[in-house]
Amino acid sequence: MATELAELLTSHAPGELKNNSRILLTPSGSAAVGIALKIARACTGKYKTIAFHDSFHGATLDSASLSGQELFHRGMGSLMPGVVHTQPPSTRNCTECMNDECIAACATSIENLIDQDDIAAVVAEPIRATTVHRIPTEYWKRVRSACDRNGTMLIFDEIPTGLGRSGKLWATEHTSVTPDLIVIGKGLGGGIFPQAAVIGREEFNDYGPTPVRELALGHYTHEKSPVGSAAAIATIKTVLEENLVARSSSLGREWLTTYREKLTAMKAVREVRQIGLMLAIELVCPELTDRVMYECLNNGVSFKIGGATSIILFPPLNIDTKILFGATDVICEAIRDQSIQMNVSKAIASSNEP
Ligand SMILES: Cc1ncc(COP(=O)(O)O)c(C=O)c1O
Repeated sequence: MATELAELLTSHAPGELKNNSRILLTPSGSAAVGIALKIARACTGKYKTIAFHDSFHGATLDSASLSGQELFHRGMGSLMPGVVHTQPPSTRNCTECMNDECIAACATSIENLIDQDDIAAVVAEPIRATTVHRIPTEYWKRVRSACDRNGTMLIFDEIPTGLGRSGKLWATEHTSVTPDLIVIGKGLGGGIFPQAAVIGREEFNDYGPTPVRELALGHYTHEKSPVGSAAAIATIKTVLEENLVARSSSLGREWLTTYREKLTAMKAVREVRQIGLMLAIELVCPELTDRVMYECLNNGVSFKIGGATSIILFPPLNIDTKILFGATDVICEAIRDQSIQMNVSKAIASSNEP
């Protein structure tokens, strides 16, 4: 089962990884991130890593150290050494002025870090899933070139985005570069069974003073679980046979067309974003977002909040359109109710006063 899954994954891997990659299976996304870090260290002989501020790459000590969110560092004492965090070109502050100049400034600052020539890997989500923000291809091209000239690995964390979520099979396909390693999880086991994987360039197998294939990278009891492999094979086949990648793209667009105008007409809504079936409704303040969430929970709709003010919907790729739209109607209603209760118009007007 594990071999069949590995063959299926490599034959559908993006870019130059297609039929030119090796697969390692792991029981969780965090473990996959840990293995990717080990491969980068073994292949490059370096140990430092760059990740984005505010990123999340897992809950184990190594993956939490890599993550840019302070919440996961708190109370932990010393973390994995050598992690450098940098500004992504898609945070709230940046998107407000997101133009060629500010993207170039973010690219220059990560290039300067990579050019110090002691970085084993850059680890990042190709699309920021927590808040549903695109990262421009120009940025990725510059990061890819900087990695190439310094012998640094580019690792894409596709744990939330892989297998169709972004409207393409891989979020990597939105970047116009191919990373050296990809980690996937979550949707790999159909969102139900714990199964994750690392996809790495074939040539790494023989890399390093001790070839990577001879290193103890994983060794997790359940890493090659036949049940996990069966779940992953069934998931990939269903995604392909039921054209769920195209559906993710078309249903996402239909959702945007149906709701963008209606939502942005409300003073409480700052922005509506959609990439495949990654949907975000950004509100004007965290308090309102929390209140909307509790009203929705009382009315049977659950969602995650990203970046304190964005309502994030990641529905199943085969969700019934009526269910998705019904849930969005409940959210619209809750935004309307809570805006009135909080007197949002007045709050916005007073916050805009000089
Ligand atoms: C971007 C990203 N990386 C890594 C992980 C960790 O995956 P897991 O929870 O399977 O360990 C997550 C989980 O939320 C994630 O969103």
